[in-house]
Amino acid sequence: MVLVSAPGKVILFGEHAVVYGEPALAGAIDRRTYLKAEKTKKGIKIRSEGSKEKDFPYVEKAAELAFEHIGRECGLEIEISSELPPASGLGTSASVAVSTILAVSELLGGGLEKKEIARLGHRVELEVQGAASPTDTATTTLGGILFILPKKQVFEPVEGELPLVIGYTKETSLTGELVRRVRERRDRNPEVVDPIIEDIGRITREAKETLGKGGAGIGELMDINHGLLEALGVGSERLSALVYAAREAGAEGAKITGAGGGGCMVAYAPGKEDAVARAIEEKGGAALKAPITREGVRVER
Ligand code: MEV
Repeated sequence: MVLVSAPGKVILFGEHAVVYGEPALAGAIDRRTYLKAEKTKKGIKIRSEGSKEKDFPYVEKAAELAFEHIGRECGLEIEISSELPPASGLGTSASVAVSTILAVSELLGGGLEKKEIARLGHRVELEVQGAASPTDTATTTLGGILFILPKKQVFEPVEGELPLVIGYTKETSLTGELVRRVRERRDRNPEVVDPIIEDIGRITREAKETLGKGGAGIGELMDINHGLLEALGVGSERLSALVYAAREAGAEGAKITGAGGGGCMVAYAPGKEDAVARAIEEKGGAALKAPITREGVRVER
């Protein structure tokens, strides 16, 4: 038996644009998914606490790719539990995928390294969702804050402190569907949508520089990024209500995080975390004060 865990993630800048080759800035958050795996004779049996059934295809595909990579296979009995709300844009699917890969590697003596786990995890998301950048799987594998260049598969660690408050709308959303929605908007109006995507890329590069200099100005960049995500069609009334409530309660900036269409927003609120969390809850959201963690996927025992 092996117990592994992987953190959730929050995208600070660049979601959706990263699917088209622009950079993203993302951080692993200190809320983890736990996956217990046992070897059996054959087949894969999955049990999960809460409604994480939508993640089962990620487990199955992750096990298949890990078996193929290691060159051996076995039956599996898997149990998943998570500190992350399901389908909330905080990276449950990615954390489940990379946890499965590490668990299989441990059970079969595969000795997979983190770089390999991140690469296989990305393939899982590509095959299950149809389109995906390496952002979520790299962040949950490696931990910390990462500047991601998807075309070069570069995952550069970024130093810096980020007092963030995450607001969950309590509306679920499916990443694959939202990625498709953006693609359709871009196909209808490429000359309008491409510059928006490029602008998000510019904001993300600027944000990385800003973070390196202490973070002053990050909030405003988040507000601009939020507006552009709205323009891509991934906003929702409840997401905007939480974003505006956070800003009014003193956040320096706030935006959608992840795929959008429901799920979560994130606010940058140095010194104002409590007031911002209260404002999010008064608007009917759930507030999570989730610090960044440097700990990526790991074996618990
Ligand atoms: C989802 O967490 C982030 C998206 O950019 C999709 C992806 O990067 O694969 C919307």
